[in-house]
Amino acid sequence: MTTHVEAAAPITLRNGQHVTIRFLADSDREALMQFGQRLPKDDLLYLEDDLQNPDIINRLVNAYAAENWRQVVAALDDGTIVAYSAVRRLAGWSSHVGDIQLMVGEGYRRSGLGLQMAKAVFEAARGLGVAKVIVEMLAVQVSGRAIFERLGFNREGIFSKHAHDRHGNRHDLVVMAYHVM
Ligand SMILES: CC(C)(COP(=O)(O)OP(=O)(O)OC[C@H]1O[C@@H](n2cnc3c(N)ncnc32)[C@H](O)[C@@H]1OP(=O)(O)O)[C@@H](O)C(=O)NCCC(=O)NCCS
Repeated sequence: MTTHVEAAAPITLRNGQHVTIRFLADSDREALMQFGQRLPKDDLLYLEDDLQNPDIINRLVNAYAAENWRQVVAALDDGTIVAYSAVRRLAGWSSHVGDIQLMVGEGYRRSGLGLQMAKAVFEAARGLGVAKVIVEMLAVQVSGRAIFERLGFNREGIFSKHAHDRHGNRHDLVVMAYHVM
């Protein structure tokens, strides 16, 4: 385990709200749980990790200082978490690849927070020393695609009917990638 220490600067979103983008901390357990509970039903259909499951939240928070994992949150002054993002180094023959996740709370969208979080987690991925960064999303998640295209990611492939939502419907999975070196 290592402690990820980095200066966390408050930022002002386009809607005038102030948030601080920083690494997830051990003390964020309850706030992350609440963040998961507030996510809209439509998002829950498509989440890779079920952020409403206390076991999953515990696993994420317990890994706050894991060697191969960087988790970034956007928090209000009172500690409320309004966005979550993570990059995890894959295992085995893909151990040079980092895999990103990104989720912004419903009331905080379309204010530039997704892009700021994506930039922060991309920096964190560089800190992990990975040579390639990928992000997987369902073909229907168009907003995520716009963000990562802006950061220079390209679409590397589509896996047909590769992911199923919580209703059991299958979706095409898009993989976008950025080659760092
Ligand atoms: C994708 C997500 C993170 C975007 O967060 P956000 O805070 O709204 O993003 P931003 O405000 O920074 O938007 C950045 C750009 O993305 C695009 N975008 C964002 N939301 C969009 C939407 N609903 N439709 C079309 N384009 C959209 C726009 O180009 C936008 O730039 P602009 O506002 O200057 O036009 C958020 O919608 C979310 O959490 N969705 C559910 C999970 C998900 O899809 N994650 C991405 C896969 S990893």
